[in-house]
Amino acid sequence: MNNEFKVTPWEVTGEIDYDLLVDKFGTRKIDEALLERMSKYGELHPMLRRGITYSHRDMDWILDRYDAGDKFVLYTGRGPSGNTHIGHLVTWMFTKHLQDLFDTKLYFQMTDDEKFLFNENLALEDTRTLAYDNILDVIALGFDAKRTRIFLDTECIRTLYPIALKVAKKVTFSTAKAVFGFDNSYNIGTIFYTSIQAAPAFLESEIQKRSVPCLIPCGIDQDAHFRVARDVAPLLGYPKPALLHNKMFPSLMGGEKMSSSQPDTTIFTTDTPKAVKKKIANAFTGGAVSIEEQRKIGGKPDVCSVFKYEYFLFEPDDREINNLSEACKKGEILCGECKKRLTERIVRFLEEHQRKREKARERVEEFMMRDS
Ligand code: TRP
Repeated sequence: MNNEFKVTPWEVTGEIDYDLLVDKFGTRKIDEALLERMSKYGELHPMLRRGITYSHRDMDWILDRYDAGDKFVLYTGRGPSGNTHIGHLVTWMFTKHLQDLFDTKLYFQMTDDEKFLFNENLALEDTRTLAYDNILDVIALGFDAKRTRIFLDTECIRTLYPIALKVAKKVTFSTAKAVFGFDNSYNIGTIFYTSIQAAPAFLESEIQKRSVPCLIPCGIDQDAHFRVARDVAPLLGYPKPALLHNKMFPSLMGGEKMSSSQPDTTIFTTDTPKAVKKKIANAFTGGAVSIEEQRKIGGKPDVCSVFKYEYFLFEPDDREINNLSEACKKGEILCGECKKRLTERIVRFLEEHQRKREKARERVEEFMMRDS
């Protein structure tokens, strides 16, 4: 493919070659042997079976330690730059699955500082308000309050700062420039920020005053931060955090990543049934120009955003998803039918989610971690 693509924590563009990213970033592809090993802890999650969670760092080591009785902590996060969309929920649901499967503690970082620093248009009050709004979506997914600590960076900074400082002292400006592409126009807060995202990976080791393994499920776009964190970890006496990487959740436009900044091609957790219907109606499918044509040559599930939604979340049954793909390719099922079904599924899913989201309002304090 001649397509240029870019995957950094701040920018995802172009048609992503996920295998090439594994080479470029130096991660490991999740292979059959690892899947086989992971299936011993419980039925493989659809994200793993379908190669959506497709790459890792040190997952074998995490399982070795786990088998030896040394439990890891989970760490993930969210940059509160807008409303939560369905793509976020997918990775958080996967995180919850890991938490339940391995019975672990989870640190959930809300980076109100990051989104303030990197976004011209957001005030600190905005990102803090958005963080509390996004937290409702996290809680609505059913995380266990006893084992889950959610925090805003600005409300937990006294805890994070000593760790962030230790990290920052080991990362030179030239490394930051090479890894993140900073130039002289970036504000100085952005340059320090990666040490704040690294800090929670070492938090449990600090608290317990021993080496506690940490596993970070995240989008592959976040890998840059944790490459840096892993490089400095041994210098600071911490274990390197292990990672599980997900592919980006597709946009309804057919592009690679659902993005909050493109509301028409993004389904938010707060969307009304009417809005969902309209967005799906306009979604890119790659279908033929006419019904006759499509009956004859068939559709293209590989490029169809409606199919991708079924694949990523809404159709967990492998046989059903194969049937759908085959029927589409043979021209037996048309885009209109698929759109109708997906719309119904999403509307039903969101109805339930929005109900839980409202109930979550009363429970926020059970989850919050703040500086004392
Ligand atoms: N930087 C991430 C974002 O913009 C948020 C984040 C913070 C995160 N810590 C994390 C994501 C750990 C995954 C894992 O969304």
